[in-house]
Amino acid sequence: MKYTLNEQIVVDRPIADCFAYLKDFATIEQWDPGVYRSRKLTPGIPKAGTEYEILLKLPANKQAPMLYTQLAIDEPHQLVLQGVGDNFGALDTISFKAITAGSTMIDYRAELDLDWLSPSFAWTVKPLLNRLGKKAANGLKQALTTPSKPTGRTLKDSISDRLILPAALSFGKRGYLSLSRKSHSTRMDGKVVAITGPTAGLGLAAACELARLGATLLLIGRDEQKLNSAAKEIQDFSGCPDEALRIISADLSSLGATADAAKQILKEQPHLDILINNAGALFAEREDTEEGFERALAVNFLAPVLLSKLLQPVFEKDSRIINVVSGGLYFQGLNINDLQFRDENYDGSKAYARAKRALLYLSRDFAETATGCYHTMHPGWAATPGVAKSLPAFNKALQNYMRDSRMGADTIVWLATAPELDGYTAQQLWFDRHPHTSDVLPGTKSSLAELQWLKNWTATTLAQYE
Ligand SMILES: NC(=O)c1ccc[n+]([C@@H]2O[C@H](COP(=O)([O-])OP(=O)(O)OC[C@H]3O[C@@H](n4cnc5c(N)ncnc54)[C@H](OP(=O)(O)O)[C@@H]3O)[C@@H](O)[C@H]2O)c1
Repeated sequence: MKYTLNEQIVVDRPIADCFAYLKDFATIEQWDPGVYRSRKLTPGIPKAGTEYEILLKLPANKQAPMLYTQLAIDEPHQLVLQGVGDNFGALDTISFKAITAGSTMIDYRAELDLDWLSPSFAWTVKPLLNRLGKKAANGLKQALTTPSKPTGRTLKDSISDRLILPAALSFGKRGYLSLSRKSHSTRMDGKVVAITGPTAGLGLAAACELARLGATLLLIGRDEQKLNSAAKEIQDFSGCPDEALRIISADLSSLGATADAAKQILKEQPHLDILINNAGALFAEREDTEEGFERALAVNFLAPVLLSKLLQPVFEKDSRIINVVSGGLYFQGLNINDLQFRDENYDGSKAYARAKRALLYLSRDFAETATGCYHTMHPGWAATPGVAKSLPAFNKALQNYMRDSRMGADTIVWLATAPELDGYTAQQLWFDRHPHTSDVLPGTKSSLAELQWLKNWTATTLAQYE
């Protein structure tokens, strides 16, 4: 049986934006609710011949793979793709027409080839196909439409945060998959983003997506070889040019090296639109860095605070500074009497969670006193090299439940790009694009006196590196 679906939408976006978003067909996972996952198989800029693997959602959590090939790209007017699956084929033609400078009509035509279906059964399948087509078209319209403001704190989130267990259940991929918006369609051409920890996990996934959106990236890491292979992966994913990626070497467990990285950025960069303090680590054993700081505190707290402080001259009032913390902070308050775990028996998870809580507090302090818009987020539980190494048992037990890196990185990219956050200064702990409370368990919220102590200690400690 052959059947043609045809949907038209009008969106308030320039034709170039719409075309750029759909030119990489792998973005289909962000807008078509019928798609579980999509991947560009051919490295570099999409062109005729580029292949994509698309996993369609089937009932009972099953998936069906399809291989799509880009047949033609006529910029910015038309894209033609051919999809082949088991007993299923599609020829998709996506046409773009500018209505005004800021609005575009998109015509999506999918000619379906359902070999296995006899025409006498067509009446059973057509309504379902029509419904799927409409859902996809609505998803695409939503992906290219900017909400007027970010979601506020919902009663459901507040209750589940307080009950902890329901909130924790959403830390896995289920939470991400239930999001009503998953798209990243705001162009970032001309924007400069510095990101720490771009060589693996969430940092690499965020860097890939930001490069696809056109940003220039300063990749800050400690291992030049890993940075170079991350740069290659980012280019394969996004097709970005060489000049969109710059490498800055710094081991962030050293505050001296962190300060040198900041100085290099200040020398080379007249302004910075976004800083993503993503690098982080959880250690099994207590160890001091060469500069004498407990290393989890150094990497997860002192380095991002120092970087945010030293980069002040290149921030403008709308620059965004995104601090990646962890849901682990829900279980730990600060211990200002032993911030560096010198007295208490070392527990890597506690040290990590306390350092992340300290970063949350200092991020709020920056928001009040420094230039830029400061945001903190936690990514839920994502299967990354870091989790596999530092929490092997947790990683093994929750393998089927955890998110992948792009799911964990989604809120980082959203905080970096969402136009609805322009000028947004309220202090939230973001998770899955929603604001959440940061203090749930008794004893985890610090007093004003403790916060003041933390501020003073941090200022004194970092002064020698400024
Ligand atoms: N994955 C999760 O479920 C989860 C949950 C809560 C919070 N987080 C937070 O999310 C962020 C990313 O985590 P991830 O899971 O993607 O971790 P990951 O896979 O271990 O990646 C961490 C990145 O940070 C870099 N890094 C670590 N120590 C560094 C140092 N001393 N100097 C410079 N770079 C350093 C790593 O560089 P190398 O490649 O050189 O090691 C890597 O690029 C972290 O802040 C983490 O605490 C993750």
